[in-house]
Amino acid sequence: MRLHPETRAIHVPVPEPGPSRPVSVPIYQTSAFSFTDPAACADALANPASGHAYSRYANPTTQALENALADLEGGAGAVATSSGMGAINAVLLSQLRAGDHVIAQRCLYGGTFAVFADLAARYGIEVSYIDGRDAAELGPVLRPASRLLYLETIANPTAAVGDLPALLAAGRAAGLTTVVDNTFATPLLCRPIEHGADFVVHSATKYLGGHDDVTLGVIVVGDADRFRPLWQHATDLGAAADPFASWLTLRGLKTLALRMDRHCATAGFLAGQLAAHAAVDRVHWPGLPDHPDHDIATAFLPGFGGVLAFDLAGGRAAGMAFVSALQVALLAPSLGGAETLVLHPASTSHRQLDAAGLHAAGITEGTIRVSCGLEHPDDLWADFAQALAVAQAAPAG
Ligand SMILES: Cc1ncc(COP(=O)(O)O)c(C=O)c1O
Repeated sequence: MRLHPETRAIHVPVPEPGPSRPVSVPIYQTSAFSFTDPAACADALANPASGHAYSRYANPTTQALENALADLEGGAGAVATSSGMGAINAVLLSQLRAGDHVIAQRCLYGGTFAVFADLAARYGIEVSYIDGRDAAELGPVLRPASRLLYLETIANPTAAVGDLPALLAAGRAAGLTTVVDNTFATPLLCRPIEHGADFVVHSATKYLGGHDDVTLGVIVVGDADRFRPLWQHATDLGAAADPFASWLTLRGLKTLALRMDRHCATAGFLAGQLAAHAAVDRVHWPGLPDHPDHDIATAFLPGFGGVLAFDLAGGRAAGMAFVSALQVALLAPSLGGAETLVLHPASTSHRQLDAAGLHAAGITEGTIRVSCGLEHPDDLWADFAQALAVAQAAPAG
């Protein structure tokens, strides 16, 4: 058939290279896939393993990322989502029913905390908060309606580390579905499925992407039987990741090991310097030998992560002065990228918590969270030292 230029401009042949193959996973930036066989189209819509029909269901670039993360986490399958919150909501909504009871760690990412508050108000899903330090905390809060245990490997923002293996074992023994947010640890420091987690969630926006240029989430399932219902739910929810975001995350994964080594080393260096500074009351980083979680963290983590927090003696006024005075590190609400980012949790990520909630989560008005980036550590410390001097001189607010 002789086609008009208008039609030929649309129906450009799609390259199918051979006998070579691309070295890097290509971006399949397409929302739909065409078929010559209608039965194959129906099959692909019904089952993501049998082909690609529509990118909300399955996309080759996104599947390459899902397979890579299932492999790194030691899981049976993975579903990538449009953000970390998309992953968290997809897991919670797929596992919980009205009237269920959840047990969750108190020191949680603020967005997750807000979701639990909403689930309680909207669906009567009550949440009991525990410190999440040891398994004995579970017994007193268990109820017949208890359905799910929710933990973070390294908690946001204080980098608290509980006895994850023991808590997961106790949760499973009690018949709970166990979910771990492994964002801060990444599968290079911890693989919660090996310790008994049913689901692992990530904000890949952070270390997995690693360059502060992508928003994406991932859910990894431990057991193959859980994959299909979760995939169906996430697909119906419309939580799908965009192929370009999946591609950026795949690119980030290639340097994850190198980056994590540097993030952890810089965190150790800055934690030591901060702990010796007069303007600082307390440093929260489990790699410090006198940190209360040091022994348990050492028992199951090969590294202590790239996020630390510290409490400025001068409270909120000092905190505001410190973040305003920085010249290299940036004030921004994310973490896990090449740039060192700082945040004042009480006024930002954890603003949902009242004074009692902040206290229970270990956050003060002078707490600063630091996501240690990849810059030269001496430049970072020089920047922190000058900003600490400004914070010390700040009038009390
Ligand atoms: C531990 C943790 N989980 C989940 C999220 C949410 O991820 P996203 O912002 O990609 O939705 C964040 C975001 O900061 C986080 O720190």
